[in-house]
Order: sequence, then structure tokens, then C-alpha cells
Amino acid sequence: MPSPDPASIQPSIRNPASAPMIRPRRSLRSLAVAIGLGTCGLVFAQDPAPGPSPSAASTAPPPAPAAFAPGFDDLMTLLVQPRHLKLYYAGTAGNWELAAAEARDLRAALKRIASTLPTYQGNDVDAALTSMIVPKIQAVDASIAAADAKRFVASFAELTTACNACHTYLEHPFIVIRIPDGESKSLYPDQDFSPSP
Ligand code: HEC
Repeated sequence: MPSPDPASIQPSIRNPASAPMIRPRRSLRSLAVAIGLGTCGLVFAQDPAPGPSPSAASTAPPPAPAAFAPGFDDLMTLLVQPRHLKLYYAGTAGNWELAAAEARDLRAALKRIASTLPTYQGNDVDAALTSMIVPKIQAVDASIAAADAKRFVASFAELTTACNACHTYLEHPFIVIRIPDGESKSLYPDQDFSPSP
């Protein structure tokens, strides 16, 4: 169903004083619509309900969008978990070039998290990263540089333990990261969803 032509309505709303001049034009238009569309058109021939005052609606600037402020959980889900998974798949496939890139991206993502959210519940995030996880990523890097599949798997397991150490340290022991389970149909095969015993 077509809407009434806004051009025919606006002037009388904007400036009620000009209504006598404008009204005949609007009625003619409404009549034309009514003739053209039959009963449906007749509905439009009636005065439209007045909307919100256009002076308020059209002059107020739209509210500025708030800057994106992701939380720790968002960044873990977006930046960290996928790299942990991809690092494992690339390394166990023997794609050392890709594994090196994923390890680098994981380290960079963690660093960016620490600079975006320097404290978490009063704890220094960078200090936690430096002591808990950076050495583990370095060990993974070394296994990749040596193209050593066995060392890669062992160092990846230690890295995964470090993920959980930080979760426990920052009071989220129920977020349990594991070595990706190839049998799992989960979309997050590096996370253990079973309740803790
Ligand atoms: C600096 C400490 C720290 C390290 C290191 C860390 N995490 Fe986290 N992670 C957290 C905290 C804190 C949360 C909970 C955030 C919240 O809910 O506010 C979390 C949450 C998560 C979540 C759950 C996010 C959600 O909303 O479902 C996943 C998945 C995760 N981490 C994966 C990892 C992986 C994989 C690693 C290792 C590569 C890792 N994390 C290393 C601190 C850490």
C-alpha cells in the first residue's frame, strides 16, 4: 500500500500558519489518490495522524555510536581460542610455516589484550602473561623452528596447561582448555565442557 506523499503533508506541519494556503493542494492530491485507488485511497484522504514534531526529530544529531569496548571474555573467544586451535592443527599437520604464524598471532593477540585491558579484577594482566604463558609460547616456537613434531605436541600441551593456570589464577577455573580432541564434534574441540568432578 503506498504511503501518502510526504511532500504534501510536511509544509502544514512545519508551519501551521501556512495551513490555509497548503490545505487545498493537499485535498486535491488526496482526492486524486482516492479516485485512483478506490476505498484504499479513501483511507489516505483523511488527515494523517501527526507524528513527532519534525523540528525536534530532524535537527537533533543522531547519537554518536559508543566505541567498541570488548570484555576479556570477548577477546578470549575472538582472538585467543581460535589461534590455540589453529596452532595445534597446523603443527600436527607439519605445516610449520602456518604454525609459526599462528604462534606469532597468538602471542600478539595476548599482548594486545594486556594493553587493551591492563588489569583484570585488580590483577596485572601483562605480569600474568609474562610469568605464565610467554615462556610456553617460546617453547612452542622453538619446536616449530626445529620442525620437531614430538616436541611440538609436548610444548603445546604445556601451553594448554598454562591457559588453565591463568584461568584458575583469575578465578575462572571452570574454563578448561584441552588439547583439541579429534573425535569431538564440538565446534570448540579445545574446550572441556563436562562438569568438574
Ligand atoms: C592472563 C590470563 C589468561 C591467559 C594466559 C589465558 N586466559 Fe583465557 N581467560 C582468562 C580470563 C580471566 C577469562 C574469563 C573472562 C571473563 O569471563 O570475564 C578467560 C576466558 C577464556 C575463555 C572463555 C571465553 C568465553 O566467554 O566463553 C576461553 C575459551 C579462553 N579463555 C581460552 C584461552 C586459551 C585457549 C588460552 C591459552 C592459549 C587462554 N585462554 C589463556 C584469562 C586468561
